[in-house]
Amino acid sequence: MGVIQVMSDALANQIAAGEVVERPASCVKELIENSLDAKAKRIKIEVEEGGIRRLSVEDDGVGMDEQDAVLAFSRHATSKIIHARDLTRIQTLGFRGEALAAIAAVSKVSLTTRQSDQTHGIFLRIEGTSITDGPKPVGAPPGTRIVVEDLFYNTPVRLKYLRSVQTEFSRIVDVVQRAALSRPDVAFLLSHEGRVVFQSSGRGGQRSVLAALLGPVEATQLLEASQSSVTCQVTAWLGLPQQARSNRNHAYLFLNHRPIRNLSLHQAVAAGYGTRLMVGKHPIYALFVDMDPILADVNIHPHKSEVRLSEERDVSQLITRMVENALSDKHLVPKWPVTSRVQEKISSYQVPFFEQNEKNQTTFSEAKLSVSEQSVGLRAESMDMSTNSKKNTLSHPLSQAYEFSVQPEAVLASESVLPSEVKDEEVQDSSLRERVKNWQLRPIGQALGMYVIAEDGESLYIIDQHAAHERILYEKFLKQMQLSADTMPLLTPLTFTLSASAHGIWMQHQEVFALLGLDIEPFGGLDVCVRGVPLVWEGLDVLQLTQRIFDDLVEIAKQAPSGAFVEELRLKIVQKACKAAIKANHRLSDEEILALCEELVELDDPFHCPHGRPVLLELNSYDLEKGFRRIV
Ligand SMILES: Nc1ncnc2c1ncn2[C@@H]1O[C@H](COP(=O)(O)OP(=O)(O)OP(=O)(O)O)[C@@H](O)[C@H]1O
Ligand SMILES: [Mg+2]
Repeated sequence: MGVIQVMSDALANQIAAGEVVERPASCVKELIENSLDAKAKRIKIEVEEGGIRRLSVEDDGVGMDEQDAVLAFSRHATSKIIHARDLTRIQTLGFRGEALAAIAAVSKVSLTTRQSDQTHGIFLRIEGTSITDGPKPVGAPPGTRIVVEDLFYNTPVRLKYLRSVQTEFSRIVDVVQRAALSRPDVAFLLSHEGRVVFQSSGRGGQRSVLAALLGPVEATQLLEASQSSVTCQVTAWLGLPQQARSNRNHAYLFLNHRPIRNLSLHQAVAAGYGTRLMVGKHPIYALFVDMDPILADVNIHPHKSEVRLSEERDVSQLITRMVENALSDKHLVPKWPVTSRVQEKISSYQVPFFEQNEKNQTTFSEAKLSVSEQSVGLRAESMDMSTNSKKNTLSHPLSQAYEFSVQPEAVLASESVLPSEVKDEEVQDSSLRERVKNWQLRPIGQALGMYVIAEDGESLYIIDQHAAHERILYEKFLKQMQLSADTMPLLTPLTFTLSASAHGIWMQHQEVFALLGLDIEPFGGLDVCVRGVPLVWEGLDVLQLTQRIFDDLVEIAKQAPSGAFVEELRLKIVQKACKAAIKANHRLSDEEILALCEELVELDDPFHCPHGRPVLLELNSYDLEKGFRRIV
């Protein structure tokens, strides 16, 4: 007798659910996507115990009738596609018809839904594949509310994999924030244990949502950029290099309004920043790619956040170009950090914050604290501070009222209380653009043996002479290498034994090495013989430089976005050259200081050393007047 049996629907659903529902944040993501597909304009997310005990998503969308309310929880039941060909032109966030079935398979779910032309709504409760209560009529506002309780109560192994309440909640915050950024026209409200921790008004633009995410000060500095090609349109908000972080948490990517993850597109953004980024730092950005859905396959994984683009290379190049352009015409001098010892002393005499500020500004500081704190780990006391505020009118009896409304006067979240300069229509500082065109630095002298002091009539600059010199050499060498990467033949060829992976990379890219002036021949096994090196290494320790290139080869290949190995290797050859050529700290003569200032202003990027560190700091008259407390 055979041993094979067809599984029960309940078991099949539970197994399939593993792919869709990994943690509370995946439930929130799926439910929000359903709300957006249902044309909601307001979405409220309430969470308890990081969503592990309970979470609910409530919207004011189109709702469902009784038949659909029941069908919605069956596997492969969807209103979004009918034929296989529909998969090639997906306009909705969901389409697989499995999310609700998956959530119900591993939790206890209740649904309340009402279509706006109906006098009453429908309620039902479902566990696994069985309806345990309803469907029955119920009073409800138009829209849908889904409550998910006791997630993974019947799959203890999954439950064990969940992290702490705070970690799970921070993932939910991330999901909600990405959704809010993808749809600034929709109002989002997220609360944890009854306290509102994030909201967007649905009336602002992307920059105002970004302000709620990053804090208003950071958001004001973002550069807006856009570029289009025949196949796609890309728009972005780009952080300045000095805003870069050591993780990718603030890298937001969207394809046709869908939050996505895609390493190649991220690398394309990073490539646009190039050497403006310090090693190990990642830019802050929000990047929106819009293209014909036929060119983007989102049906790769049940999460629907991975995508395959048929024109990925073109899109990547477009992104890199856009980022380069946006950064190149911007005066990128970091502001003088107001942390000098003098300043610290001054601030210790400052008037307490709320005495200085008007009513609104106090709210602003609280809201800023709440949002920025929660983005770095949701410290409980900071949430308390924001939500115990008497202005926190939104955490009030919404749950009882069931319907929620964002009242214009209920200034709670940071977005609605931003300083006016953060609003979308605000134009970036254009005077800086003008200034950089005919920039002239008048040297004042050298300080502390390492810094050149200069001014341009409007600001005072402290120039790191080492970084400036390195940048000057870098651009000079790069130009030489781009014109013709001539080879300097070596009188005595050098032999090296490479690692297996480095040897493999060299074999694969032999013509690139030759193009860049590295004349290398095989020498048996993993050995190679170097007969010539790039001319820009003339006068430098070529043995050491070649060895370093070979040592870094695996890393260079890893960092190069597809097809860009030549660029990456060229950069490394040049970077190593300037590092080797740079002189240690030394006193500069007046002529040398003048030459440095003159050469600096002529550079393509006078603001960053080849490793992304700033070359100069700016202290303008406003900063000085503030420092001397002429203005407060
Ligand atoms: N908030 C909602 N408002 C109105 N209808 C909804 C809502 N949530 C779900 N539905 C209906 O229930 C159906 C099933 O939802 P479910 O999330 O399981 O599948 P889907 O969204 O079609 O595809 P996917 O599995 O990719 O999310 C949807 O196609 C939609 O018709
Ligand atoms: Mg769905």
